[in-house]
Amino acid sequence: MGKSYPTVSAEYLKTIEKCRRKLRGFIAEKGCAPLMLRIAWHSAGTYDVQTKSGGPFGTMRLKAEQDHNANNGLDIAVKLLEPFKEQFPIISHGDLYQLAGIVAVEITGGPEVPFHPGRQDKPEPPLEGRLPDANKGNDHLRDVFVKQMGLSDKDIVALSGGHTLGRCHKERSGFEGPWTRNPLIFDNSYFKELLSGEKEGLLQLPSDKALLSDPVFRPLVDKYAADEDAFFSDYAEAHMKLSELGFAEA
Ligand code: HEM
Repeated sequence: MGKSYPTVSAEYLKTIEKCRRKLRGFIAEKGCAPLMLRIAWHSAGTYDVQTKSGGPFGTMRLKAEQDHNANNGLDIAVKLLEPFKEQFPIISHGDLYQLAGIVAVEITGGPEVPFHPGRQDKPEPPLEGRLPDANKGNDHLRDVFVKQMGLSDKDIVALSGGHTLGRCHKERSGFEGPWTRNPLIFDNSYFKELLSGEKEGLLQLPSDKALLSDPVFRPLVDKYAADEDAFFSDYAEAHMKLSELGFAEA
């Protein structure tokens, strides 16, 4: 069964499209696509299927959530997006952060991820500690993505390809450096680099390397490295699911 999305007004839809165009220009000009993808993912990735709490409902606007250990640096993303909330006040923070993540993927050359509007902002931040730990391995990735968020093994590998964009900052996460040689281009180079081993100037987190040693994850890494169309198609599906966790339940 498909999801039944909330009905939003014609004015809301028009405003989303206006905002989407402005975001394209802004994110390209600032070169902040990686940070925009990270805020979208860290907003949505707190969803817990058991309690139906957390998720992409704008709570990253709250300082308490920006202060969560995993979110170091995302206060910058919140500030960059605040003028959009001022210019388009009817758009919820939840929709704004998810739209920014989808635009970031699009304008860096990635696939088009379908966007459905109508997320209502929640008043309270999620519990701390729901986002994955980069120093842990596959059991932990499954605990977070499959058990907590309700996503699949395939989604884990496809979404890990989000590290095609951006880099780690020592002062934010303790890690330093990009995953690929072109961190402002969304392509399948994350998987190619992962397979070809560690190199000077590039980084692989323990949680990235873990994908290589799992019997379900590894064939998907091989497939996405060899076939960018297959990666884009699975990535778009997984990103849409991520952006809609807890939203418009079937
Ligand atoms: C699989 C578990 C994951 C772990 C353990 C993880 C961990 C990290 C860490 C440690 C950083 C560095 C933050 C910094 O120092 O600035 C980072 C950055 C980033 N992550 Fe992940 N991540 C995961 C999954 C994802 C997913 C699913 C996406 C999106 C689909 C994503 C997108 C990004 C992006 C775009 C950046 C770069 C941000 C920037 O350049 O400012 N990550 N991630």
